[in-house]
Amino acid sequence: MSSEKMRNRAALIERIGGYMTAHALGLAAELEIADRIHGGVCTSAELARETGTHEPSLRRLLRLLAAVGITTEPAPGRFGLTEIGDLLRSDSPDSLYAFTRMFCHESHFRAWLGLGHSVRTGESGWDHVFGANIYAYLADNPELSALFNQAMSQEARLSAGQIAAAYDFSDVTTVVDVGGGDGTLISAILRANPHLKGIVFDSPSGVAQADGVLADAGLADRAEAVAGDFFESIPANGDLYLIKSVFQDWDDEPAKAILRTCRAHMPPTATLLIVGSLLPERAAPGDPIMFFTDVNMLVNSGGRERTEAHFRTLLAETGFAVKSVALRAAGPLSIIETRPA
Ligand SMILES: C[S@@+](CC[C@H](N)C(=O)[O-])C[C@H]1O[C@@H](n2cnc3c(N)ncnc32)[C@H](O)[C@@H]1O
Repeated sequence: MSSEKMRNRAALIERIGGYMTAHALGLAAELEIADRIHGGVCTSAELARETGTHEPSLRRLLRLLAAVGITTEPAPGRFGLTEIGDLLRSDSPDSLYAFTRMFCHESHFRAWLGLGHSVRTGESGWDHVFGANIYAYLADNPELSALFNQAMSQEARLSAGQIAAAYDFSDVTTVVDVGGGDGTLISAILRANPHLKGIVFDSPSGVAQADGVLADAGLADRAEAVAGDFFESIPANGDLYLIKSVFQDWDDEPAKAILRTCRAHMPPTATLLIVGSLLPERAAPGDPIMFFTDVNMLVNSGGRERTEAHFRTLLAETGFAVKSVALRAAGPLSIIETRPA
């Protein structure tokens, strides 16, 4: 067999191993391996003692993680962390610990067993497997919901600073973050703009941790958390509305319903900023994260990522005029600035 064929076979097999890597990462996060070896090197025997696991098997897990670039094995049976592995620490400032736990959680693996159903029908695999929409499921499972909110916050933390820097808030008085989760984004924007007031609006389970986040950010006097349903109404007293990483959760009809709620309740002179990934018109190798998200949204909620043209159609159909599109203005995220038409 030619060496190119050998490479291709190995490349395919590595991709098949993706689900094994995800399971290994989920377990490593659950066992808090990164916190335990943070700043040094531990033996698998020490880690097994601390985690109450079977040492020879834990060692094999740690070696798999070394092979995919998460741990290091500087000497047989001794393990450290790579810079990527360091992101699994729960206390690192750019931690993806909760994000890893959530996306490698049993609920997600089970939902993905519904991928075939999703692709055959266009319906959510999550709903098919669990008999409930993901957000209804989270509302009934407060511990998982708190993990989900923390995972979203860890994802949002990096882009929050970039969004705060990418938009000129000087003429704005009150920002409303629609579907703003635990308030991580609005906190970053308010801290960067001391003249602003803010409202984080989300479902009751979505804002369950927001008061604490706003208080920790020293913003209790300038920001409030409001619970509600964006299919019914949103706060009417903003002059800038943000909606980040929300439309991807929904197929076109519910996405248009959310836009219509915004159109009906925001003042006619207010601005709506849609922040999220914009899919390219066609897929190419490299940069697969938004395509992971696209199919993950199909599975988790029957939603989708969209191209700029797709967003323009939805906005035109719901009474919005696009003022500007800033591609990749906040890391990988783009900002569509739109106003009631
Ligand atoms: C993918 S998360 C994005 C959270 C946040 N904007 C961010 O970027 O980190 C989607 C958010 O929509 C909220 N959501 C879902 N259904 C909702 C509803 N009917 N009304 C208000 N918020 C809702 C969820 O609770 C969740 O916080």
